[in-house]
Amino acid sequence: MTDEAPDTEEVARKLFSGPIAFLKSAPGLQFLPDAEVEEIAFAGRSNVGKSSLLNKLTNRRDLARTSNTPGRTQELNFFDVGQPLRFRLVDMPGYGFAKAPKDVARKWRYLVNDYLRGRQALKRALVLIDSRHGIKDIDLEVMKMLDDAAVSYHLVLTKADKIKASELQAVEAKTAEEARKHPAAHPQIITTSSETGLGIDQLRKAVIEAIG
Ligand code: GTP
Ligand code: MG
Repeated sequence: MTDEAPDTEEVARKLFSGPIAFLKSAPGLQFLPDAEVEEIAFAGRSNVGKSSLLNKLTNRRDLARTSNTPGRTQELNFFDVGQPLRFRLVDMPGYGFAKAPKDVARKWRYLVNDYLRGRQALKRALVLIDSRHGIKDIDLEVMKMLDDAAVSYHLVLTKADKIKASELQAVEAKTAEEARKHPAAHPQIITTSSETGLGIDQLRKAVIEAIG
């Protein structure tokens, strides 16, 4: 049928290959942009691959800065998607970075937690989990906080290229089992690799579906 609404995949392809631009960095809550559109935020432990996944999702190499060294992203970074503006992607500092100075780690934690708990415009959080490590206590704390605040989130396994298929299956099963215990978690988990592109189409679809 020719008069059918374009399917999600087509919408996703168009949006993510169209205009996307860095808007601003917010080092504190008072610097957040006006909440004109809904937001999708990348959360997860330091070095889990948040900025890399944002780049892969948007098919751009250096939109968000990445690094081998944990603690690269230090502020909330907002990216405008679509022209006219459709929604925003938010790259965040990581949590659980043991080597950061205590006051710095505390500042990031408050910034990320306050944003996640209190941001009306936040439509969905993507909680990234390193496939090699699985869900850690600190991830559970964040998941519990999101459950309590009724913020819907999607668990996303990262760096799937780094482990064997059999190990990946096991971590997928375990992660999905944990997701089912959490009221605000999407029941389906998404396995990705920013290296190979695995799961990126699925993630794009999930973002578009969340935005609606
Ligand atoms: P912080 O901003 O410090 O919290 O880190 P982050 O979560 O944004 O991680 P980032 O995207 O900077 O990636 C950290 C490191 O992991 C970089 O060296 C990336 O190249 C690497 N990396 C990220 N995703 C993947 C992946 O899917 N596969 C592989 N092999 N490496 C990855
Ligand atoms: Mg980062």
